[in-house]
Amino acid sequence: MSMSKPVSMETIVSLAKRRGFVFPSSEIYGGLASAWDYGPLGSELKNRVQRKWWREMTQLHDNIVGLDASILMHPRVWEASGHVDNFSDVMVEDTITNERFRWDHLTEVQRENRTSPAGNPLSEPRAFNLMFETHLGPTSSGQKVYLRPETAQGIYVNFKNVVQTSRLKIPFGIAQVGKAFRNEIVTKNFIFRTCEFEQLEMQYFVKPGEDEKWFDYWKEQRIRYYDSVGIRPDRLRFKPHGPDELAHYAKAAFDIEYEFPFGWQELEGIHNRTDYDLSRHSEFSGKDLRYLDEEQKERYLPYIVETSAGLTRSVLMVLCDAYDEEEVADGDVRTVLRFHPDLAPITLGVFPLVKKDGLAELAREIEAELRDDYTTFYDQGGAIGRRYRRQDEVGTPFCVTVDYDSKDDGTVTLRFRDSMEQVRVHRSELSERIRAEIKAYRRVGV
Ligand code: GAP
Repeated sequence: MSMSKPVSMETIVSLAKRRGFVFPSSEIYGGLASAWDYGPLGSELKNRVQRKWWREMTQLHDNIVGLDASILMHPRVWEASGHVDNFSDVMVEDTITNERFRWDHLTEVQRENRTSPAGNPLSEPRAFNLMFETHLGPTSSGQKVYLRPETAQGIYVNFKNVVQTSRLKIPFGIAQVGKAFRNEIVTKNFIFRTCEFEQLEMQYFVKPGEDEKWFDYWKEQRIRYYDSVGIRPDRLRFKPHGPDELAHYAKAAFDIEYEFPFGWQELEGIHNRTDYDLSRHSEFSGKDLRYLDEEQKERYLPYIVETSAGLTRSVLMVLCDAYDEEEVADGDVRTVLRFHPDLAPITLGVFPLVKKDGLAELAREIEAELRDDYTTFYDQGGAIGRRYRRQDEVGTPFCVTVDYDSKDDGTVTLRFRDSMEQVRVHRSELSERIRAEIKAYRRVGV
């Protein structure tokens, strides 16, 4: 029986390290606060989360295209976008311990009394711009540039290029995945909030007046997407931004929140950015960024509806959501990551029952047959039950065991991660069978 008790962050961090999902950055030097490296399984998981999103947001739409803009951009971009003037958090310091806090993360009482969570006096609140600055060229007097704090601006400044080269008609979207950097005052909760992270962003350009309709459309699309990849619906909710929470560019915004082990937190933002960005870039660049509607014979600046999710934050969400412990027999408990098969770093474990009598060679041969279609992992070490458990713990949805009968009749055991059921399948039918299982996959108990 599956255990529904929430997983702790300690459990997730320890599993992630032990099984090669996420390591502390530069660990042999003692690590760097808030920086993390994605290991063999973590980089595969992150790639898969990204690919799934990319397919959903570009390939499954005939009016959304991709872009890969550079991280360093002309510094005027960030003046036009409002980030130079507005992209700051208010910071305070505990005057005794020097611990720093975001003003908006303190309780009302703490703000009123000007005391830290430890009860100590706080410093004067001061605004702190989150953008990382650097300089182009060999000396620090070179041109000041910023590491982009969001990928979105790369899309806005390429709006005209994309319209001219793709001949897209409004409404249409441009999607991008990439690194973003923010000098966060407080980084915590593992990979949830870091200074270097990745975003999955899509900007949808619409006719003014149709923005609210498309805003509602994308809200529904995005929540449906999480359902399609097996995320527990009871751990997802919408949260509207109140007027004092709206970003400087937004007319309306909803967060999709996920219930992490440390509480409900933002996973993705859906924003109605109006024509704020394109009008500011028109003004600052002096270029006419209006769209020509050839049918209506009119020019206008489109409104933008944005869907903006964190990729690295999504990886944490997927890990927390997949984690399960299940009592299997006589008090024995197995750990299982119930990843959607499209997200699992390994799709298929292949094992010989024993190494001898030609079974290892046969298992290798079968693995080679399946490699073109799936990410496979060969393992011949230890008892078969332990090998299954090792794959359960990293979320491998299918395992194939090659035994003595396989030599005689070509059949193998196909074992399912979630139900632990086992069926006999002929090796020639394995690939098709797994494909059908992935297509029909529904998460158990959700
Ligand atoms: N372009 C809009 C934008 O950047 P945002 O709400 O500031 O909006 C979007 O960020 C998403 O990026 C968030 O929902 C979150 O998933 C992710 N994100 C933001 N800051 C992050 C950080 N410091 N670490 C990890 N992910 C972050």
